Amino acid sequence: MRTQVGIVGAGPAGLTLARLLEREGIESVVLEDRSREHVEQRVRAGVLEQGTADLLVEAGVGARLQREGIVHRGIELQFDGERHRIPLGDLTGGRSIVLYGQTEVVKDLVAARLESALPLLFEVEDVTLHELDTDRPRIRFRHDGADRELECDAIAGCDGFHGVCRPSIPPGVLRTFEREYPYAWLGILAAVAPSADELVYAHHERGFALLSLRGPELSRLYLQCRPDEDLDEWPDERVWDELQQRVALEGRSLAEGPILEKGVTGMRSFVAEPMQHGRLFLAGDAAHIVPPTGAKGLNLAIADVRVLAEALVSSFRGDATGLHTYSARCLARVWRAEHFSWWMTSMLHRTPGDDAFDLRLQLAQLRYVASSTAAATSLAENYVGLP
Ligand code: APR
Ligand code: PHB
Repeated sequence: MRTQVGIVGAGPAGLTLARLLEREGIESVVLEDRSREHVEQRVRAGVLEQGTADLLVEAGVGARLQREGIVHRGIELQFDGERHRIPLGDLTGGRSIVLYGQTEVVKDLVAARLESALPLLFEVEDVTLHELDTDRPRIRFRHDGADRELECDAIAGCDGFHGVCRPSIPPGVLRTFEREYPYAWLGILAAVAPSADELVYAHHERGFALLSLRGPELSRLYLQCRPDEDLDEWPDERVWDELQQRVALEGRSLAEGPILEKGVTGMRSFVAEPMQHGRLFLAGDAAHIVPPTGAKGLNLAIADVRVLAEALVSSFRGDATGLHTYSARCLARVWRAEHFSWWMTSMLHRTPGDDAFDLRLQLAQLRYVASSTAAATSLAENYVGLP
């Protein structure tokens, strides 16, 4: 088999890249090791920066997003018994975010790919990369019981943090940067109307909590927990009770409903530099991870493949400059988002061990954001996404 771009991973990065290339007449083959059902059911984040939503619409996969996505022009910060609205739109010249689950983005992209009858192989096994530093890199894999080899002009490593592409780069090439956090999020999806009109980020002495949503009758809620938290210790009543304690304020009570999904999300910051080696280009979680506070993961993945698609298209038309500068262009945005995500995370979570100095710094920073237009604008422009 031969193609122009071999894409490993059918998450938002791989599928969006395939779509952008299709629009420019570039061939690709997408290889995914999980099943279609699995990929379409994983519950992940759900905040799209305006630029991300715009790109999906321009790529012709935004019809349902435009119908069902919920536009928000502000978020709330809650701390020290008070609520403060950050008017994202007013502070950023009218920019907004769209609440639309990553799961839905993936479903729309898979449907578009299948409708175009272009190659998207699920349940491939034993993916390995070869001859990355030649101009004919190859991907070997098993599919339907047969060994296959795919010869490409370039390979896009869109296979997430635990994928095979990043580890295929020879030792000594990449430099990695990492930070682990001493907490995680317990997230639930609940069949109940959201209790607040906008997202609520709550700083509380019992730990952080976040109220988000997926639709008029679907709430997504998170609470700070231990990284090794055992879900068996969290029956539904305990989850609701803990959420109530962390977000209850005068004038706010949390409506409860059946919990449809429950899981623990780890918190990590990670960057691999450079995001390319020979003819392999890493994009999305394969190259970088942010903690979920601020919801940058999906947006960074889409921003990477926008740059990569343009660079690949130019190179097939004879100008390879964009491919040479791919990593540097992406990393500038990645590090800004790394800083923002780390900052939001550190400001809002209770540090285990109860460090009184940390707590006072957090409250000072939250009060500053709530009272200074300059500080709120800085949060807002990062939140809606920098150009
Ligand atoms: N071979 C083929 N596919 C693989 C392999 C492999 N060896 N390893 C992993 N994959 C697949 C995964 O099953 C997954 O479908 O690669 C895909 C990677 O998708 P994501 O993890 O969703 O990563 P990405 O597309 O970069 O999107 C980043 O996803 O994790 C969230 O919060 C993160 O929102 C961010 C977004
Ligand atoms: C979500 O809705 O899943 C979500 C929202 C905001 C975040 C993180 C996740 O900061």
